[in-house]
Amino acid sequence: MLGNFTYCNPTKLYFGKDALDGLNVELPKYGKNVLLVYGGGSIKKNGIYDKVVAILKANGKNIFEDAGVMPNPTFKKLNEGIERAKKAKADLILAVGGGSVCDYAKAVSVSVNCGENPWKKYFIRFDEPTCDIIPVGCVLTMVGTGSEMNGGSVITNHAQKLKIGHVFGESVFPKFSILNPEFTFTLPKYQMVSGIYDIMCHILEQYFSGTDDNTSDYIMEGLLRSLIHSANVAVENPTDYEARSNIMWTATWALNTLVAKGKTTDWMVHMLGQAVAAHTDATHGMTLAAVSMPYYRHILPYGTAKFARYAVNVWNVKPEGKTESQIANEGLEVMEGWMKKIGLVMNISELGATEEMLEGIVKSTRVMTGGYKILNKQDIRAILKASL
Ligand code: NZQ
Ligand code: ZN
Repeated sequence: MLGNFTYCNPTKLYFGKDALDGLNVELPKYGKNVLLVYGGGSIKKNGIYDKVVAILKANGKNIFEDAGVMPNPTFKKLNEGIERAKKAKADLILAVGGGSVCDYAKAVSVSVNCGENPWKKYFIRFDEPTCDIIPVGCVLTMVGTGSEMNGGSVITNHAQKLKIGHVFGESVFPKFSILNPEFTFTLPKYQMVSGIYDIMCHILEQYFSGTDDNTSDYIMEGLLRSLIHSANVAVENPTDYEARSNIMWTATWALNTLVAKGKTTDWMVHMLGQAVAAHTDATHGMTLAAVSMPYYRHILPYGTAKFARYAVNVWNVKPEGKTESQIANEGLEVMEGWMKKIGLVMNISELGATEEMLEGIVKSTRVMTGGYKILNKQDIRAILKASL
């Protein structure tokens, strides 16, 4: 049965080959000072930086830059961004990049005026902001996280060996996001498939929970089928616009809060993956891929019916003459074969995790309670061991 909920997504999207023109519509709504936030330089190589700067200038903006946002943005960098935004008296933060850049921009936006340590407030206590928030707009160049249309912001604190995401409310969602699938064509294959798995995992985190009949589960099966199909095409031909545009759109729907409404969710793969990243700084989607199979096999006995439904409806497993458990396990085998085929990393050793790190990773893993089994320390240890 659907639980009670309210639903509102305030982010305006511009999608397609001409999406960047949307900046001309949005920029006049904000003051003159724009903090342009970006990563390690890919946007300078592929020409997106020049296009964005030209539009900012044509709209009479004062441009202040905050470059060098790293994948898995850090609390240290956040403090730097807060200072830059203050100095610029930023009226708008324009994030041009992937999830890391968008997440970071949101973290800066709620921290500039918060008057206390933002790590403690937002990432330990999970408070909502009570101060003025600087509006954020995004030009997306890497697909996967859904950050373009949600309130998620994930920050890594290396000193504390923690990577923590705060899912902020509507006030922190980007005001607008520009989604041009062509902007993702220059992504290295490693990043592309990592993003594809991030999308799949977001859907599964919301799918593998609950036993009720829920509209969201049917929507998610459709999203998964589209994603698998488009991923197969994009891996063969990364500049296939049809496939890349479908992947981009699926990513947004996978985590723009819609499919979670009225249902319970899991999120344990992300908790495990984030703990691995806190110790290795590995690429987000790959950390998820590397722990997924051991996790799903561990919880399958507690949610067999849903895993069997997944096998049939998403992976086309033939159910005739098989037990529910056989069907469920076959679904995971097919999924595992597909993951290997598209080039995902299937163990955490390849991401730099070692046996010696294991206890630390167990300690860094937050336990969520919406999945088919609430994990204890032994469960987490066993899953991570099987992921090595
Ligand atoms: O830094 P540059 O030089 O731009 O290079 C980036 C980066 O190295 C590169 N890249 C991006 N667009 C490119 C490109 N290279 C060539 N051509 C392009 N068009 O790709 C690399 C990865 O970028 P990043 O932004 O780190 O990737 P992603 O979008 O996967 O974001 C990962 C971060 O988002 C968080 C993750 O934990 C991680 O910190 N997440 C955010 C979520 C949310 N907001 O809801 C949910 C997710 O589960 C996730 O946790
Ligand atoms: Zn994710």
